[in-house]
Amino acid sequence: MNARETLYAGKNGRLQIGGVDVKDLASLYGTPLYVFDKAHIKKVCETFAESLNKYYGKGKIFYASKAFCCKETYRIVKEAGLGADVVSAGEIFTALSAGTDAKNLCFHGNNKSYSDLEYAVKSGVGYIVIDAVSEIDDLEEICAKLKVKQRVLLRVNPGVEAHTHHYIQTAKPDSKFGFSIENGDADKAVKNLVAKSFVDFCGLHCHIGSQIFEKTSFLLAVDKMTDYYKKVSEDFGAKLSVLNLGGGFGIYYTETDPKFGCEDYAEYIKSICEKLCECLAQKDVEKPYLIFEPGRAIVGEAGITLYTAGRIKNITGLKNYISVNGGMFENPRFALYQAKYTVLAAERLNDKPDTVYTVAGKCCESGDVIAENVNLPKMREGELIAVLSTGAYNYSMASNYNRNFVPPVVMVEDGKSYLAVKGQTFEDLVRNDL
Ligand code: LLP
Repeated sequence: MNARETLYAGKNGRLQIGGVDVKDLASLYGTPLYVFDKAHIKKVCETFAESLNKYYGKGKIFYASKAFCCKETYRIVKEAGLGADVVSAGEIFTALSAGTDAKNLCFHGNNKSYSDLEYAVKSGVGYIVIDAVSEIDDLEEICAKLKVKQRVLLRVNPGVEAHTHHYIQTAKPDSKFGFSIENGDADKAVKNLVAKSFVDFCGLHCHIGSQIFEKTSFLLAVDKMTDYYKKVSEDFGAKLSVLNLGGGFGIYYTETDPKFGCEDYAEYIKSICEKLCECLAQKDVEKPYLIFEPGRAIVGEAGITLYTAGRIKNITGLKNYISVNGGMFENPRFALYQAKYTVLAAERLNDKPDTVYTVAGKCCESGDVIAENVNLPKMREGELIAVLSTGAYNYSMASNYNRNFVPPVVMVEDGKSYLAVKGQTFEDLVRNDL
């Protein structure tokens, strides 16, 4: 299991989360069910915020809400003093509906449309991150029309490779994100930006990838970003005051991952801040306002998914399948990234895991798998299965594939539970069908 106090085996051998027995959650809300440990989300938020404050003193954490976006998440992170990174008009709308102050939103995307930009400016978002050439002119036009000065950051690509799955590496030289520093594309964008009157170019952004544990890539990015920050300020006369280093901090999925507790995230932030202060001093650059955008680290380990075990198929001499009542429609990460998860027989944690299973979903395709080669006790139909660390990029990437329902989301804390997102109905499935 992961390194959390609020997820443990109860005396009855059943999984407990946030002081609630998973069997009770399943009877109250049904399965499949996304369950989030609210105390854990808050604790990680506080850890990031306090560490940034303690080791740097000037900045803010913007929760990357693509990891898990619903009104309740925005409320929780807001209460913990965080802003949010948003990547669509839909995320902006959700954040605002939950009472987020638009100033505390940072709007990203490599293909924000004219109307997305207009919506963001009208809403008063704090920062827009420029990630395309023509976006600069569109934004200037919108801001001139609305007579608004809009703070923007430029997303640059420092060319640092993080060691993670290639789909979630975002700062490779040929990435669709950012402007490359190395090939001069970033310089061209900077020249364009400093010439604008309504677009207020105030900082730089980078994001090197996701599910990263090693610090080296981050430290290298800090070095490259501070070099470029200095260059932009000195050679192009830009008045910069913000540096956004993105997110990407890894979490525990299986025993091949390190177990990062809050102290480790604090340590991580400390190393980056120390390196940043050292680089700034060396290069004689004034301390910018510093932003990080963790997503996965905040919600990933807080979430588990509960399923009911369905049909069991033993293919003689080859494989044992256990099918669950979920699948790639509520967790597409195995199909997309060959992601690995810890799977538990949630009602029999003390039983010996003596059988190897492939946990399959119920969708009509062979690639619909939740986890492969997991050791479980000999399973019975109808018992609960829990998949851990599903808090990030599960609910937010869910679909109605095969016209399955996106499961409800439940928050648990101090032995109590409540619905944060209700389940869908047949009516929801045909609501927009004409
Ligand atoms: N900031 C920016 C600009 C990003 O693109 C991302 C993630 C983050 C922050 C947050 O990264 P995190 O702290 O969550 O690693 N769907 C994939 C992950 C895609 C991440 C995309 N960008 C997955 O399921 O692993």
